[in-house]
Amino acid sequence: MTEKEKVVLAYSGGLDTSICIKWLMDEHNLDVIAVIGEVGQEHEGLEAIRQKALRTGAIEAYVVDMREEFVNEYLTDAIRANALYENKYPLLSALSRPVISKHLVRIAHEHGAKYIAHGCTGKGNDQVRFETSVWLLDPSIKIIAPVREWPFKTRPEEIEWAAEHGVEVPVTNAKPYSIDDNLWGRAIECGVLEDPWNEPPEDIYTMTGSPEAAPDKPEYVEIGFDGGIPVSLDGKDMSYIDIIYKLNEIAGRNGYGRLDMIENRLVGVKSRECYEQPAALALITAHKALEDMCLEREVLHYKLGIEQKWAEVVYYGQWFAPLKMALDGFINATQEHVTGTVRVKFYKGNCTVVGRRSDYSVYDYALATYDKEDSFDHEASAGFIELFALPAKTWAQNRQLNADK
Ligand code: ARG
Repeated sequence: MTEKEKVVLAYSGGLDTSICIKWLMDEHNLDVIAVIGEVGQEHEGLEAIRQKALRTGAIEAYVVDMREEFVNEYLTDAIRANALYENKYPLLSALSRPVISKHLVRIAHEHGAKYIAHGCTGKGNDQVRFETSVWLLDPSIKIIAPVREWPFKTRPEEIEWAAEHGVEVPVTNAKPYSIDDNLWGRAIECGVLEDPWNEPPEDIYTMTGSPEAAPDKPEYVEIGFDGGIPVSLDGKDMSYIDIIYKLNEIAGRNGYGRLDMIENRLVGVKSRECYEQPAALALITAHKALEDMCLEREVLHYKLGIEQKWAEVVYYGQWFAPLKMALDGFINATQEHVTGTVRVKFYKGNCTVVGRRSDYSVYDYALATYDKEDSFDHEASAGFIELFALPAKTWAQNRQLNADK
């Protein structure tokens, strides 16, 4: 008997990716290696999921703890870029796909597998991110997306096929939402959320309490940054990953970090998405406040455009592409002295910056003050405005001359 070809599957333990295992075996005649990425998602034990993959027929199954790498190689870039897609969404899924893809490719190489498979639908962004990331790392790998090719339209159809083919169906009633989560937050879509007029029900959220029920007393936190990366909380040195865990807790209990938006997917569809990203949004808010203080004006202004492009490129799945690296070149050059402390106040769904300080501050009290210490040259302004306004003034003069024509 000749050995079968191998496929490495991004496995979550849910119904779709469980059916994927059997589908790849039966319809593609492949040996399946399942990979479960630990990226800080909610779960009730990844070892149990690994066992389930093996029971379903995978020849090998791995749990890979990607958390440190995710934080120290991906969320570092994200915070320095103040990454917000469409100026709102801090990109949680778009950030985890490349790190998962990297491990899929590594494991494919280790096993001599020619194929990589994922359980994404044909309508979302995640398929684009997995496939683009994999191809940027190894363009010779072939992709299989069973969910895109199988005929099932509804969950009951999937369950029927699963039962006929000996695939375990989760006993709990499936949640009426599609959820993706990791350390950077949680994305919730589908179900009643598909009507954009419906207010998100309280039960979609697990990382954040409701702002209405949040404590009546504000909670203050001091976030320290070094070179644009979070390094301390309330004066205590902490790793970036611990800061994220801790801030998810603090911001979450104060009802901060929820988003409800209509978003433009790469595949052309507008979708209604709800997110909760307490630590991510708090850190970006604080980081921006420190940049306001430390970056020279022209760099700050130019960076705003670069940030928007960065978020779009990453949202589009181009993490390993040359444009992303080139944009990082600019961003990293701005961050060396984004070092200092920002004080934020959480209160009933808000995160407000209430203080900032830095040895690299370009805020100059003597220039800014209206008090007697004022060192600003007021007289210099007259000549400055004359030249600055010259083009506009010349235009206005011309229009005045022609007013009667
Ligand atoms: N719309 C978000 C994005 O594209 C979240 C995707 C969440 N994925 C999921 N399978 N529910 O980044």
